[in-house]
Amino acid sequence: MTNLGDITDDDEEGNVSLSNNNVVGVTVGRQTLNITNQGDITDDDDKGNVSLWAGNFSIYWLLATLIGLWFIFIHTPQHITAKGVQDYGVVFWMHITLACFTYIACMWNVFHTPSHGPWYANIHILVGRTAVFTSLVGFSLGMVAAWGPGSTTSFGFAIGITSGGIGQIICTIIGFSAIKLHQWEKEKPVPDEKWKQRYLRIHIGTMLGLFFPSCGVPAVMRIFEMVGMKMQVGLPVGLTIFAIMIPLTTQALDKKRWY
Ligand code: HEM
Repeated sequence: MTNLGDITDDDEEGNVSLSNNNVVGVTVGRQTLNITNQGDITDDDDKGNVSLWAGNFSIYWLLATLIGLWFIFIHTPQHITAKGVQDYGVVFWMHITLACFTYIACMWNVFHTPSHGPWYANIHILVGRTAVFTSLVGFSLGMVAAWGPGSTTSFGFAIGITSGGIGQIICTIIGFSAIKLHQWEKEKPVPDEKWKQRYLRIHIGTMLGLFFPSCGVPAVMRIFEMVGMKMQVGLPVGLTIFAIMIPLTTQALDKKRWY
């Protein structure tokens, strides 16, 4: 067939290879599939990976991320140094490392979701699974650090951080189970689209719950402490703002807009 300048079958792997521009377009219905000289099939509708900065930007994501970055990289190091690094034991250090990873993982996973391309889907799953682990272990160690023998945590802060932590565990477990159910539904020979979407929505809602109120609680408690607001007032106010941000962010994600 070489005379026709089209198809040869003499490449090393034994794949059929294509001459000229090495791509043949096959139209099936309204879709064009391209067969490349690697012998693989690509889908024209598959947009590949988006740019790193072209994530799910919204003012809610930005606010939660700025609060988180301030808390992790500015407030916490200052607070620990002021109190005395030697005051903290190994349990606390492990807790703080796992908690910070969970927080940063949420920032990333909300900004880049699997629909942004195969690379982002793999990273989302890898970062997400690690965050599920660090969230559960980080919470347990945090409880030991806050309530265990030798703890220097104030009673009010320990109560606040424990309620945030319980919410965090609930969100982590429900969020992970929901995406597993979504994947299970997707793999059925005839998926129930309604339930597939519902599971995904639960995943999004609970993971935003992990990001905004759960990870954000310790940070807002410190902010309110700094402006002299009583914890009993500041905590419910902060929680309400974060809770309202969940449906607003879901809407922003749906409509692909920044507000
Ligand atoms: C704090 C934020 C998030 C965390 C920690 C998180 C965590 C995870 C985890 C652990 C998985 C993998 C499940 C598995 O295969 O074992 C996953 C998958 C997935 N997540 Fe998220 N997620 C977050 C936010 C989001 C958001 C905001 C969306 C959508 C807007 C989303 C959409 C998905 C989808 C569609 C999958 C399935 C990917 C696939 O099966 O190919 N996630 N996520």
